Amino acid sequence: MKKTFYITTPIYYVNDVPHIGHAYTTIAADVLARYHRLRLGKDNVFFLTGLDEHGQKVQQAAARAGIAPQAHCDRLAPQFVNLWKRLNISNDDFVRTTEPRHTWVVQKALQQLYDKGEIYQRAYTGWYCTFDERFWTEKDVIGGLCPECKRPVEQLSETNYFFRMSKYQEWLIAYIKQHPDFLQPRSRHNEVLGFLQKPLEDLSISRPKSRLAWGIELPFDPNYVTYVWFDALVNYISVPGYLVDDDRFFKWWPADVHLIGKDILTTHSVYWSTMLKALELEPPTTIFAHGWWTVNGEKMSKSRGNVIDPNAIVDEFGVDPFRYFLLREVPFGQDGDFSRETLITRINSDLANDLGNLLHRTLTMIERYADGKVPEPGPAGNLDLDTSLRQMASELLPLLDRHVAQFEFNRALEAIWGLVQAGNQYIDKCAPWVLAKTPEDRPRLNTVLYNAAETLRFLCLTLYPFMPAAAGEVKRQLGLLLNFSKPLLAHDISWGGLLPGTEIAKGAPLFPRIEASKTQGETCVNQEEPSTLKPPEISNQAPEMTPEQISVEDFRKAVLRVGKVIAAERIPKSTKLLKLQVDIGAEQRQIVAGIGTKYTPEEMLGKRIVIVANLKPAKLMGVESQGMVLAAGDQEVTALLTTIEDVPLGSKIK
Ligand code: MSP
Repeated sequence: MKKTFYITTPIYYVNDVPHIGHAYTTIAADVLARYHRLRLGKDNVFFLTGLDEHGQKVQQAAARAGIAPQAHCDRLAPQFVNLWKRLNISNDDFVRTTEPRHTWVVQKALQQLYDKGEIYQRAYTGWYCTFDERFWTEKDVIGGLCPECKRPVEQLSETNYFFRMSKYQEWLIAYIKQHPDFLQPRSRHNEVLGFLQKPLEDLSISRPKSRLAWGIELPFDPNYVTYVWFDALVNYISVPGYLVDDDRFFKWWPADVHLIGKDILTTHSVYWSTMLKALELEPPTTIFAHGWWTVNGEKMSKSRGNVIDPNAIVDEFGVDPFRYFLLREVPFGQDGDFSRETLITRINSDLANDLGNLLHRTLTMIERYADGKVPEPGPAGNLDLDTSLRQMASELLPLLDRHVAQFEFNRALEAIWGLVQAGNQYIDKCAPWVLAKTPEDRPRLNTVLYNAAETLRFLCLTLYPFMPAAAGEVKRQLGLLLNFSKPLLAHDISWGGLLPGTEIAKGAPLFPRIEASKTQGETCVNQEEPSTLKPPEISNQAPEMTPEQISVEDFRKAVLRVGKVIAAERIPKSTKLLKLQVDIGAEQRQIVAGIGTKYTPEEMLGKRIVIVANLKPAKLMGVESQGMVLAAGDQEVTALLTTIEDVPLGSKIK
């Protein structure tokens, strides 16, 4: 394994506030940085992000705001810095391309290339796209529109400075072919090779000041500023110390990963690689281009008014659910669609039901059955169950290493959730609440509780890169002594690392469930046009209620939820009554149900049922019942109620 890891995000234009697309790349880069810190230690990881402050887009945005470009950048930069703080982004540096440490290197690099004859001046006539800030040739332009953004282009004749990019075409093709991991995912590798089948032109790297003043002045001609892409790409080498500090620079360069969006693949794979070649530097090891997010199936754009503000999502749902959703929902190289509904479903099923529940029930049982301390495990009783849980936990990190190396965040999270589910099933099968009743079962109970807590320790470690705040909370509640900034040692990742006697500190649920009804309610309000609302007097004409009818408000008083039976036994001396332990997501209920003539306890295990969840607890044959199971049947129970679809546990019935 390489000893250092250098990862970058694109530097974002400060022409507007950050949106979900910016957050996406930055969160993914943060996960990789945190993951590698766990493996290599914090001093061997360098994570760089920042802002692209020059160029036409920024100059125009400043003009719209009626202020100078630098003042505009200074005003917007904190929006990015603050969002990254909020999203728990652990970048090691933050570059702004107007900083002297960067502009100095850009000018030095330009001078070097100019001195070597890699940059020359010539007159050029072409089709210019203001939005993309680039020239197109006659054959690229279709119907007067830019082939990339489909906006009108204008013919411009200008004398500019050009970088001899064309001379590196054959080299670049060979390099890409010889380094199959250079451009990822594989489809992007093919895309760039396809692009390189057409002759590569030289790259205009200057803009006359008469047209664009906001940029870094060319060191060899004060009438020009540097083309924004030439300037911006150099950030990847200026910050680690190119031409300033060789030791520092070559500690990090070549970068391990440039994470980018698919729209800026050409600038990175073609412009940047050839610029580096001309500077006699190695290309980065990997350029990974991720997909784009649409919103409710539509392209995200200001004009559509559907731009997702990460701050608003975090306000409503929290940081870690947002981080989790973005990386879990869609394979990293592919496009994805963002909607509140899918986000809420993920939160409720994966975070609240699966992970939150595992933590909550484990800690509740340690509190209840072991005085709030992780017990010393007794001898392993049911060996198969214990061994498979232990094996799954021990194999998790090597598996994650492979997924992370392939940028398969969704599969990494799937693998982690495999262990979450295994932990929950282990508890269901071992039924600690049954073991707790018999003193002879105490050693076994201790083993089960220990194993559940140890599973959570593995989860805490592996979740940390993805959901640092949640991992921190699991660590606190479990009383773990972990230092996430140190490389993991062998004993950290071997089973049994959790110290018996560790005092736990159960806290509030890790991920509260989001009430879907609340969201639907809001949607309903929006859908109903005020003009279609019935005027109030009509309600006076509503028919009278008959005695057996109830109002919808009466019905809503009953809270009905979906649950799963995780343990069942007969109540001694009763043919009718079964005692069920029912998992309803955020909690577990004990319910005494009169269904024993129709169902055996074994038949009930694993059944998905519907319960009345807000019934006052009652005692039946001396056993407390905290709810009621819904069943059909006039006299005798003939069938239990369930849901057609497999919905998250705890879902409300309406
Ligand atoms: N300043 C250049 C990058 C220079 S890097 C040397 C730039 N900036 S940007 O602010 O316009 O875009 C930055 C990133 O946001 C790009 O990687 C782009 O792919 C990403 N996204 C913009 N909209 C997006 C989505 N809807 N979905 C996902 N990512 C998107 O380009």
